[in-house]
Parts: sequence; structure tokens; C-alpha cells
Amino acid sequence: MQSNLPNLHLGIIMDGNGRWATARGLPRGKGHEAGVSAIRPIVEAAPDHGIGTLTLYAFSSDNWRRPETEVAGLMALMQGYLGDETSAFARQGIRLSVVGRRDRIGPKLARLIARSEAETAKGQRLHLRIAFDYSARERLLAAAREGHGAMTERAFARLVTGDGAPDLDLLLRTGGEKRLSDFLLWESAYAELFFTGRMWPDFSPADLAGVMREFSRRQRRFGGLAGPAAAAPGLTRAA
Ligand code: FPP
Repeated sequence: MQSNLPNLHLGIIMDGNGRWATARGLPRGKGHEAGVSAIRPIVEAAPDHGIGTLTLYAFSSDNWRRPETEVAGLMALMQGYLGDETSAFARQGIRLSVVGRRDRIGPKLARLIARSEAETAKGQRLHLRIAFDYSARERLLAAAREGHGAMTERAFARLVTGDGAPDLDLLLRTGGEKRLSDFLLWESAYAELFFTGRMWPDFSPADLAGVMREFSRRQRRFGGLAGPAAAAPGLTRAA
């Protein structure tokens, strides 16, 4: 990553694959395939925008409610994605992590995830996190169950994120809906929210550049005041 850029965390709810396919008279699975293809250009563009951590919502814990064939298709796509991309990630300095439950996705996929994470563990250019069988509420509950004694905010955040990922700076949802759908609830406390009607398979690096331009115009106050009246850094909340 270029060192003069901020180390931003962008989270994306990649919504709209199904509608993208239906609008073209295609089965929903084709929309998910197109959704997978839309990921690489965004991953490649992210570091140039100062994004150091990118978390993509690929399968929520509530997605198990979808028809069995669609769920099986998403599992197969995840398997194919890791198989296709892992060695390129290792070459490109991309560290891959998968956040979410591992106990329901099947041993083969769980092994593949562990292998991809190990092979890319040294990546410094971008931390790509795929949220898979992920539920933010479940993460919060798991952290509450693990935590005991004098819990600090920082220690709790470490338990919630699972890997110590930083707070979210931007949360983007494609597909026109305006909700969080149990994604990174703790991490979004001060995230800037972006909603676009663009369906995920159509979302391009030019769209990402537009989001980042708008982000640079937003004033982030973290509950304080802007400008000279703002509190000195020493007065900001210690985590
Ligand atoms: C939402 O589309 C999409 C998802 C279920 C998550 C995103 C999944 C992908 C981009 C493909 C899988 C990714 C990997 C890495 C394997 P939707 O089906 O809810 O669309 P709709 O709202 O138009 O029906």
C-alpha cells in the first residue's frame, strides 16, 4: 500500500446478484457467478484508495434459509473462489481471512479456507476479509461468552472481530436496499454509510472511485466537534 494514504477499512454488502440475473432472464446462480467476477477488480483497486482492510459479505448466517440448491451453489462458488485466487493473493501481498462460523460449512471448505489463510498470511498490501456464514450478532454473543473479568473495550473488540480488524470507516451496500443485515454491527459504530442502486455484478472500480470521492468530502466527527473546537486527540475516547 502507498504509505501516504490512510489505512481505511471498507465493508461491502454485495447485494443484487439475484435481481441482476432475473432482469436478464438468467437463473439466480448466474447472478452469483457474475457477483464473484465483480470482486477481483474491486480488490485490485482498493489499495490505491488507501483501503487497507476490505471486508466482503459473501454469505450471512441467515442465508441458510435460501433454497438448498442456491446454498449449495454459493458453497461451491466460495470453494472455487479460494481455489482460483489464493496463489494470486499470495503473489500480490493480499492477506485473506474468512470471518464467520466454520462448523456448518463442511470440512472440505473449512480446510480450504485454513489453507488459503495460511498461504496468504504474510500479505501486507491489503487485508481481504470474506464474511462467510457470518452474523454480527453471533460474533457479539460469542465475544460476551468468551469475555470475563475486567473487560476493556479494546479487548472486547478483539473478541468480536475475531482477528483484531479495525473499526469500519465506510460501509457500502449495493442493490438499492438500505439496511445493515447483521453485518459488522460493532465495527460500524462510526462508519460512513453509502447505499447505491447499482447491482453488485455491475459495480465497477469507477463506482468505487465515486464512493471514495464522496467519502473524502464527508466530515467525520466521531461524536465530537469539527474544526478548531474539536477535542485534542488526548481527549478522544480511550478504547
Ligand atoms: C446478494 O445477492 C448476494 C449474496 C448472497 C452475497 C454475495 C455473494 C456473492 C458476491 C457471490 C459469492 C461470493 C463468494 C466470494 C463466493 P442476492 O441474492 O441477495 O440478490 P437479490 O437481493 O437481488 O436477490
